[in-house]
Amino acid sequence: MRTIVAGNWKMHTDSTGARSLVGALLEKLEGLPNTVEAIVAPPFPYLQRVLDQTRGSRIKVAAQNCHQAEKGAFTGEVSAAMLADLGVQACIVGHSERRQYFGETDAAVGEKVAALLAHGLLPIYCCGERKEERESGRHFEVVTAQLKAGLGELSEADLERIVVAYEPVWAIGTGLTASAQQAQDMHAHLRGLLRSHGSKVAATVPILYGGSCKPDNAAELFANPDVNGGLIGGAALDADQFVAIVRAAAESIG
Ligand code: 13P
Repeated sequence: MRTIVAGNWKMHTDSTGARSLVGALLEKLEGLPNTVEAIVAPPFPYLQRVLDQTRGSRIKVAAQNCHQAEKGAFTGEVSAAMLADLGVQACIVGHSERRQYFGETDAAVGEKVAALLAHGLLPIYCCGERKEERESGRHFEVVTAQLKAGLGELSEADLERIVVAYEPVWAIGTGLTASAQQAQDMHAHLRGLLRSHGSKVAATVPILYGGSCKPDNAAELFANPDVNGGLIGGAALDADQFVAIVRAAAESIG
């Protein structure tokens, strides 16, 4: 099973900040074993520069979103084809901030996954329940529905080419983290859903945890058998913190 630590920069940094963050990451990751895939997801305007700066290195570059259509009159949007053309290797899809603030539906997110796969990009498919959904005990049900709606139409072969990220909305940017047990319980549930598409799918698809994952809680989260790395927000903007999380992931796999 692959282990991945991906940094979602969200709408942060500027060109100078992006350059120095990537420079520091390249330098600090050098001493670490290559067993963990390190991915950064800068804002669209910085993708080209970050691609240039990371070429030939162990760092992969992801976008934070794409449009589901191949091309067309969709002012302000970016297609999976354009990302592939740039050399971007992965793309976050269905992040709760996109679902919440930009009205992204499960159906649209499913189409984005298909568009990314068609262009050879790795979709990092996000799911996760809101606070009130956990409090009312509906978290497994909500995440099951998201996974079915977003990925249900995919073939086994396509499912083997995705990554799932579990991001409980109540833990994102709040400093609250799912406990190691809450994370493992949900990841095991997700693994079970993937298994219904075949044992190879369950054994191949990494499931990342996201939601206030920091250097001080990463080791405990990654020690869980079904947690295969993290999708990191705030801590990904600091090279030392991001590298410490990559180190924790490397240590978790020995
Ligand atoms: P934080 O790590 O800032 O909670 O963000 C998590 C996230 O949304 C990553 O996609």
